[in-house]
Amino acid sequence: MELNQAIETRRSIRKYKDTPVTAQDIARIVEEARFAPTWKNSQTVRYHAVLDPALKDRIAEEGTCQFSKNMQNIKSAAALVVLTTVDGIAGYEPDGTPTTPKGSHWQSFDAGIACQTFCLAAHGYGFGTLIMGIFDEAKIRELIGLPEGESISALIAVGYADEAPAVRPRKEAGALLEIL
Ligand SMILES: Cc1cc2nc3c(=O)[nH]c(=O)nc-3n(C[C@H](O)[C@H](O)[C@H](O)COP(=O)(O)O)c2cc1C
Repeated sequence: MELNQAIETRRSIRKYKDTPVTAQDIARIVEEARFAPTWKNSQTVRYHAVLDPALKDRIAEEGTCQFSKNMQNIKSAAALVVLTTVDGIAGYEPDGTPTTPKGSHWQSFDAGIACQTFCLAAHGYGFGTLIMGIFDEAKIRELIGLPEGESISALIAVGYADEAPAVRPRKEAGALLEIL
């Protein structure tokens, strides 16, 4: 798939087929996502892939702040990736002082770039994805046994799409762009 076509045709998928997603499938996607750029090439983004249906269901039921749409999204998808970042590196000097006034902003920035790179790579391999920002970090941390020092940046549902949603409305480029 052409890169520009991939960018334009990726959609958030909320209804998935029952077809399983394997550890090899996720590994193939991460093989691509690892090329995402990061702060000083610090590469602090981690991908915790939940394929076990029982654990995935517990995350859906107990880790979504009772937001029923995400509960359903996670149950529908064959796999759930918990995207995390190692704290205190992106945006910081080795002695722990912030390199810029934006402090920990760069940790989230790296996570966002990696997240979209993961979703585009998945799209290229024929998978649908959904990025989710509404989740109970403490509960999911407990459920997946996430160590201290890593924060959850986003959840990504992964599976074979069972819907083909139309593109959601976008502003015209002219409304977003200023040429100086
Ligand atoms: C940071 C972020 C958080 C999001 N959180 C959720 C979420 O919790 N639940 C959900 O259903 N969609 C979520 N979305 C998906 C957006 O609603 C979706 O990307 C947007 O409506 C545009 O649709 P598209 O991805 O199909 O182009 C999130 C997207 C982003 C980038």
